Amino acid sequence: MSSASLQPRASGSSPSHQLALERFGRKSLARKYPTEYGNGWRDRREKACILRCLDAIGPGSRVLDLPCGTGRMTRILVERGYHVVSADASEAMLERARENYRAYREEHTGKIPDVTFSVRDVLATGFPDDEFDGISCIRLFHHFNEAETRRKALRELARICRGPIVVTFLNSFALDRISSWLKARLRGKKQLSQLPIPLSTFAADIDAAGLKIDRKIAAHWGISSRWFLVLGRST
Ligand SMILES: C[S@@+](CC[C@H](N)C(=O)[O-])C[C@H]1O[C@@H](n2cnc3c(N)ncnc32)[C@H](O)[C@@H]1O
Repeated sequence: MSSASLQPRASGSSPSHQLALERFGRKSLARKYPTEYGNGWRDRREKACILRCLDAIGPGSRVLDLPCGTGRMTRILVERGYHVVSADASEAMLERARENYRAYREEHTGKIPDVTFSVRDVLATGFPDDEFDGISCIRLFHHFNEAETRRKALRELARICRGPIVVTFLNSFALDRISSWLKARLRGKKQLSQLPIPLSTFAADIDAAGLKIDRKIAAHWGISSRWFLVLGRST
């Protein structure tokens, strides 16, 4: 049995949802996935954006890091004083996140709180309603090509969170789209995942999920396609 088949299967799974589960379910990919991106500037910028987006909630708040991947964001959330719960659909990625967090705690003996790590699919997390004061959902939505999958994921995040929900997506309006398009042309392959979408398309998904955009931050306006949005319930 492949490791991908061990991942949870939410009802309403779509081709792109399934593709992301299979890709990140592979141990070989999890082993290679960085805990800090090589481009230090980009890594620092993303972390600063997340902290800014969560400004409205103070230390002691209960924050979900989903998907946590290898735990790239877990530490900064803990350092902010949040009570962090980390989750991801891939057991292989979680294994690395646990190892990394264990090593971090060992470096700072006795001072660092525990974090729980669990396998969860964003389409059906299994957490109770209003469980969290905030959510950090970084680098997930660009894996979902179908509007219905994005909407289902957004509805689930809205159900479990009573405070700010930080999400990222790839906006089709940015210079780095030109280099991605050129690379795909050179490889002679049609890009099937990580497709950028216009902000208006994602805004329609957000609205359909009963959420609204409270804040927008471009990682680097006009140059990088990655945008951070802070969402709240619309009613
Ligand atoms: C690009 S990584 C981002 C990880 C982390 N947020 C970061 O910024 O480093 C995408 C993660 O999404 C997870 N993922 C993919 N599909 C998922 C799903 N349906 N539910 C929850 N996590 C999912 C993958 O396992 C992977 O760890």
